[in-house]
Amino acid sequence: MITVLVNGANGRMGSEACKAINNDPALELIGQIDYKDDLQKSIESLKPQVVVDLTIASAGFGNAQTILNAGARPVIGTSGFLKEQVEKLQTLAKEKSLGGLIAPNFSVGAVLMMQFAGQAARYLPDVEVIEAHSPQKEESPSGTGLRTAEIINAARRSLPTPTSDKELIKGARGAELENVKLHSIRLPGVVAQQTVFFGGTGETLKIEHNSQSRESFMPGICLACRKVVEREELVYGLEHLMD
Ligand SMILES: NC(=O)c1ccc[n+]([C@@H]2O[C@H](COP(=O)([O-])OP(=O)(O)OC[C@H]3O[C@@H](n4cnc5c(N)ncnc54)[C@H](O)[C@@H]3O)[C@@H](O)[C@H]2O)c1
Repeated sequence: MITVLVNGANGRMGSEACKAINNDPALELIGQIDYKDDLQKSIESLKPQVVVDLTIASAGFGNAQTILNAGARPVIGTSGFLKEQVEKLQTLAKEKSLGGLIAPNFSVGAVLMMQFAGQAARYLPDVEVIEAHSPQKEESPSGTGLRTAEIINAARRSLPTPTSDKELIKGARGAELENVKLHSIRLPGVVAQQTVFFGGTGETLKIEHNSQSRESFMPGICLACRKVVEREELVYGLEHLMD
């Protein structure tokens, strides 16, 4: 059995993850820790093969470093990672020959939504991303929004049509990454939604994903725990472990 420690276990995602790991016959949940616990000492004493981190954006990068330095494999669902941080962690994982995952989104449908957006961006370079989450989400835009912008930019073969970005009210045109506008909605009742909105000649295309409950993330978390032990590198995006 693959031994797993969950960090952020008292949170909405963490508590669901503990239940899902407990129900997976290939996994053994050996520890549940949260804000007041010492992550490094917990890894040293429990010696988990995998640590799932579902905490808070401002702590995610530091936690991932701690997990790798302590010799465990990180499965990071915590959002807010920038490209440079992912690259630093990939270098550290390589040095330690440890597998790991940073997943902007654990839901299979959301991974497919990002892949389909990449496919569409080859032919329709004009695109904006609208994501919605609960008001408790710490940061904006979401990790999924950022990853989608990176995928679109890598797939796009021409630049988007320039637009007038004169804003009568600051923020009206959203944020921008890799020439992709990102708009963040925060409303009660929403778990996680994203629409990738393409415009073409006389046509539009919308690719939409909706996580209706946190259960949608659990098969991806369990899959990641099972797969990272077979790897000696840290991957960015669940799609790298899905096949
Ligand atoms: N990748 C995905 O598919 C996915 C899906 C949903 C949410 N998320 C992300 O997962 C994270 C957790 O989301 P949530 O809805 O469960 O939040 P939450 O606020 O319900 O839970 C966060 C938990 O982490 C704990 N915590 C905060 N800082 C900590 C630290 N430094 N060390 C240890 N524990 C700490 C809190 O006490 C809390 O119990 C967020 O970053 C969120 O954006 C990712």
